[in-house]
Amino acid sequence: MAKAKTRTAVLISGRGSNLAALIAAADNADFPAEIALVLSDRADAKGLDLAREHGIPIAAIDKARCGTKAEIEMQFDTALRDAGIELICLAGFMRILSAHFVESWRDRILNIHPSLLPLFPGLKTHERALEAGVRIHGATVHFVRAEMDAGPIVAQGAVPVLDGDTPEHLADRVLGIEHRIYPLALDLVASGRAKVQGERVIIDSTTMAPDAALLSPPD
Ligand code: GRF
Repeated sequence: MAKAKTRTAVLISGRGSNLAALIAAADNADFPAEIALVLSDRADAKGLDLAREHGIPIAAIDKARCGTKAEIEMQFDTALRDAGIELICLAGFMRILSAHFVESWRDRILNIHPSLLPLFPGLKTHERALEAGVRIHGATVHFVRAEMDAGPIVAQGAVPVLDGDTPEHLADRVLGIEHRIYPLALDLVASGRAKVQGERVIIDSTTMAPDAALLSPPD
């Protein structure tokens, strides 16, 4: 009997283009994860419409109305556990999760960050990459730890930084690679081929090429 798909929740706060990439990947019958819940901390997040269009259950928890950080996280936790969620993907989720929440889902939360971590954690990554004059920039999918934008790296994708780039142009180029590495990382983790060992991710070399989790365009 085929292995059951990993029940995955995607947590968003806004546009949801990475959510769209994950939904598209999960539409494939062979994909090892299903998007079983989309959770947002903003009732007006655009990505919720996408979830509705695909018939994916949603839960929106409005931070303006819902009390303390601990109370809000309790509501997230209840929604996730009630839906039988096994793995969480943060995709543009603009809320820093508490150490308590992160620990209670240890090694079961992924995040996508628009830089080649550990370079440029935090906000305004594209502006900072341009200011630093780096020639290569990109995106990272990593397991979440209590420290912001830190944790074992699953997949990275690189793009060139071109002379004359604006933060917007660079952001567009990076977003293109985000939409490729997030499905790849979810595939690796949900299928059990990428596992945390110590504080690194080890990819099963019997089934994957050693560079399977590194993308650099062009295709
Ligand atoms: C992406 O750039 C992601 O890396 C960052 O927030 C943005 C979310 O975009 N964490 P979207 O909502 O997935 O379109």
